[in-house]
Amino acid sequence: MDYGLKGRNAIVTGTGRQGAMGHTIAKTLAAEGANVACVDVNYEGAQAIAEELSGMGVTAKAYNVDQSEYEQVKEGAAKILAEMGPVDILINNAALLRGGGRIQKTTVEDWKNLIRIDLDGPWYWIRELWDQMVERQYGRIVNISSIAGVQGGFGQANYSAAKAGVIALAKTAALEGARHGIVANTITLGVVDTSGGRILESEMFQRIVAQVAMRKMGEPIDVATLAAFLVSEQCKYITGQNIHVMGGLDLFTY
Ligand SMILES: NC(=O)c1ccc[n+]([C@@H]2O[C@H](COP(=O)([O-])OP(=O)(O)OC[C@H]3O[C@@H](n4cnc5c(N)ncnc54)[C@H](O)[C@@H]3O)[C@@H](O)[C@H]2O)c1
Repeated sequence: MDYGLKGRNAIVTGTGRQGAMGHTIAKTLAAEGANVACVDVNYEGAQAIAEELSGMGVTAKAYNVDQSEYEQVKEGAAKILAEMGPVDILINNAALLRGGGRIQKTTVEDWKNLIRIDLDGPWYWIRELWDQMVERQYGRIVNISSIAGVQGGFGQANYSAAKAGVIALAKTAALEGARHGIVANTITLGVVDTSGGRILESEMFQRIVAQVAMRKMGEPIDVATLAAFLVSEQCKYITGQNIHVMGGLDLFTY
């Protein structure tokens, strides 16, 4: 199927680590012909990925943005719009994954720091790209969430609250964007191996995998394939949805 992504401009946040979600999503969009702004606070990592994508025949550039800072997102978005042109697609993937520990152990600083990156950041990006999407009556937004945002996460009060927040944020963007050709959805992940198998050396991850109905971790490509569809031209009547990519980690059994 032709996803209609050829020549579309996409921002993928959190595109700084080889083999991680942002990298795989960016590569999948580029393979469909989309130009990609690779945004990360890890600028060197983003540069290497942008270089790789450029070799695929699309325009790809790295942008150094700490999305916990509104001014940086504002400037970053303006720079991307000036250098790459109108942005059709936003994938809010960047996040800090560490929780702050149990509720009583989470410091106010840990709480605020993570919320600023994982919840404020995605809102800043949507806010800064919104007007030009409305003006062009076209936009595709995907927020990346976690099972912790749906079921809570032990020792992850800050992370789970932020990840619940991005689901509601996408739903609100879907409602407000519906009359402007903007669709917004969330992809919620269970456990995805971005380590090339090394993570399974950890006993904790083995315990988690034992709870997955499919008894294995997901791969970044499982997420990227869905992301490519959700930002495609064909995805014009699916909006405000939260789609779980987790091999049945959320299914009840006994
Ligand atoms: N890997 C999993 O099992 C899993 C499970 C559930 C949800 N997720 C979600 O998937 C997404 C990607 O996760 P990943 O596993 O690829 O992790 P990752 O840590 O490799 O990727 C996150 C990226 O975000 C960047 N980043 C962090 N803080 C930033 C900031 N302030 N400004 C800009 N960029 C910043 C990091 O540098 C990194 O490149 C995240 O939203 C995460 O919450 C992952």
